[in-house]
Amino acid sequence: MKLVWAVTALILGCWRASASTAPTIIADPTEVTNQTSALLRCNLTGSTLPIHGSHWMHNGKVIEKSKTTDSNSYTTLHLDKITFTSGGKYECVFLTEPELKQTIEVKTLPHVSAYKHSEHGNENDKAVLICVSHGYPLPTDWTWIKEDERDQMPITNGTSDKYEIQNTPNKTTLTINDLNIEKDIANYVCSGTSEIGTNSDKIYLRVRSRLAALWPFLGIVAEVIILVTIIFIYEKRRKPDEVNDDDDSGSAPLKSNSTANHKDKNVRQRNSN
Ligand SMILES: *[C@@H]1O[C@H](CO)[C@@H](O)[C@H](O)[C@H]1NC(C)=O
Ligand SMILES: *[C@@H]1O[C@H](CO)[C@@H](O)[C@H](O)[C@H]1NC(C)=O
Ligand SMILES: *[C@@H]1O[C@H](CO)[C@@H](O)[C@H](O)[C@H]1NC(C)=O
Ligand SMILES: *[C@@H]1O[C@H](CO)[C@@H](O)[C@H](O)[C@H]1NC(C)=O
Repeated sequence: MKLVWAVTALILGCWRASASTAPTIIADPTEVTNQTSALLRCNLTGSTLPIHGSHWMHNGKVIEKSKTTDSNSYTTLHLDKITFTSGGKYECVFLTEPELKQTIEVKTLPHVSAYKHSEHGNENDKAVLICVSHGYPLPTDWTWIKEDERDQMPITNGTSDKYEIQNTPNKTTLTINDLNIEKDIANYVCSGTSEIGTNSDKIYLRVRSRLAALWPFLGIVAEVIILVTIIFIYEKRRKPDEVNDDDDSGSAPLKSNSTANHKDKNVRQRNSN
């Protein structure tokens, strides 16, 4: 019995001793969610270590303007206009030996944007639609919705060969196979959801007929055929015509003269009226 008490006392004593001397950084707040601005605070307590300064880090990078060399055990960082780019992991670092630090997570709605806001594909080909996300935390869930004038249809992966969805936290890819000019022209909405909420963007898909894709090529072919035909006919006609060259040049001015006369007459008639 005495032994048990002794051991208990020893353990309690050790625990109390370690609690009072272990340096801890009290972060306030411990986390920031969905806020437009925030004041991050760190208070180093229970430390007798000399402090040679402090600074803050954002996603592993030192925030230069937060660097100080004073021996304060207290440091703050003001975040103004928090957006998805300012979200992430913030750390206050006290320059002691060893360094002491504490993390404060700043969470925002994920930023979701289409890689391209309009895409096009050819009939029977496939289209690949991509949305990417930035911010912290990144989406844990992605959804795609097809949206036309009449209704909104959720797109499910793997129920047919038509749609295929590939997701990573920062990117979602929707592949639409065997494009159909009547059925597939629509807006496709991608939505990324994190613990904070959902954001989305829209891609307009156009589908061109196979023939439309061929038009430029057919145009060139037609042009070449016409040119070759014209040259061919011209060459064919030139040879026999060369003999009657005088005849041609003789009749041409006559024709133009006669039309000119005709016009003159008309003008004169109008004037007399
Ligand atoms: C830091 O924490 C200590 C101990 O909890 C407290 O006494 C002190 O007032 C705090 N300092 C600031 C600036 O909040
Ligand atoms: C969709 O299905 C494909 C093929 O079955 C699979 O590789 C892919 O991981 C699935 N994507 C999602 C988001 O479940
Ligand atoms: C997306 O995440 C992957 C791996 O996590 C990374 O290699 C890639 O650079 C990220 N892309 C973007 C656009 O952030
Ligand atoms: C964050 O804000 C958005 C809208 O500003 C809201 O939809 C969402 O529910 C909020 N999330 C949390 C966790 O408060």
